[in-house]
Amino acid sequence: MNDKLRFGLIGCGAQGRYLSEALRLTGAAELIACADVRPEAAQAAAAHCGYKHFYSDLHDLLEQEELDAVVVAVVHDQLQPCGLAVVASGRHLFIEKPMALTAAAGRELAAAARSAGKKMMVGYTLPFMPARVRLKELVRQGAVGAVVHLAAGQLIGGIGGWLARPEHGGGPLLYIGTHVIYQVLDLIDAAPERVFAEIAFTESGVDAEALFSVRFAGGITAQFTVSQRLGCRYGWIDVFGDAGRIHSEWESNALTVHSRDLAAYRDPTTIEVPAEVVGPTARLGDMASVNACRYSRAWAAEFVEFIGAIREDRRPRVAGEDGVRVLEITDAVFASGRAGRPVCIPRS
Ligand SMILES: NC(=O)c1ccc[n+]([C@@H]2O[C@H](COP(=O)([O-])OP(=O)(O)OC[C@H]3O[C@@H](n4cnc5c(N)ncnc54)[C@H](O)[C@@H]3O)[C@@H](O)[C@H]2O)c1
Repeated sequence: MNDKLRFGLIGCGAQGRYLSEALRLTGAAELIACADVRPEAAQAAAAHCGYKHFYSDLHDLLEQEELDAVVVAVVHDQLQPCGLAVVASGRHLFIEKPMALTAAAGRELAAAARSAGKKMMVGYTLPFMPARVRLKELVRQGAVGAVVHLAAGQLIGGIGGWLARPEHGGGPLLYIGTHVIYQVLDLIDAAPERVFAEIAFTESGVDAEALFSVRFAGGITAQFTVSQRLGCRYGWIDVFGDAGRIHSEWESNALTVHSRDLAAYRDPTTIEVPAEVVGPTARLGDMASVNACRYSRAWAAEFVEFIGAIREDRRPRVAGEDGVRVLEITDAVFASGRAGRPVCIPRS
């Protein structure tokens, strides 16, 4: 199959437009049509991102256009219903995180994609960022030995609009905390068993701050901090093992490595990971709608993976089932935070 895949977009807000640029960067996608409940947003995305047609109802898009795959980038409470409509129409699905509000809703979507025989990928971006690609390689090479503990966090300034509304699935835990939960799951091969959380809520009822620990089968532990009390964005992950440690800060490309077993890192060493490690190298920012976003290359790398999975008929990295594993943890974090006691995650 050498032809470009024909893509549609549902949700023409900020991320939908960024993803359109990233899709184009792959050189393997044709942008066919887009839809948004706000017709002006759909029209603007069509004009600026190069979609041939636009719609205010996603069902019209799905019925009237010939598409191979659809990107869904809508508000959190609409992700799962839009995703279900896409797979029911027989298209492959790339859906933004967190893909659903609960693990049960996520499972329903992943199962629908599976039974339709369609590929589904969830937009967790951190594993496609250069420093985190290198971090995973170093962990695989034994830089820290056996992983024992991880500490990770995502902090963000106060968030407004639909992200401040519980009925839309707002709050930093689902918005940015899910990124770092996926990152931890991607680094270790162990099932989460138990979660203990402390959560503070805003007056509107979304999480203001969630502090939680997760215990995994085999004894690995992880602690997380997710908060909207900081004035800026900051994310980090520390991976500790029985032979060393690695530290990475988002949005830096630097990694600090200290390893007993890898000679290059016997002393604590900070390395700068070049941005070219992942992703297409096409020039960024050649679309008038979008100022070349610093993550465009990582998002393009996500699409290279998604398109590869479709063409090669294989499971994509970050499949629907992986998204469900994140939601099993966020479900448990909310349950534990509300109950004030540890919550066990049932074996799926
Ligand atoms: N992976 C990343 O790095 C990353 C970064 C930012 C946002 N996101 C995710 O992208 C998604 C969208 O976020 P955003 O920042 O673009 O929000 P946004 O508010 O800018 O855009 C959301 C759009 O969805 C539209 N919409 C809502 N319901 C709809 C429906 N039923 N059908 C069609 N359109 C509908 C809205 O009108 C709006 O234009 C979220 O899931 C968010 O978590 C991911």
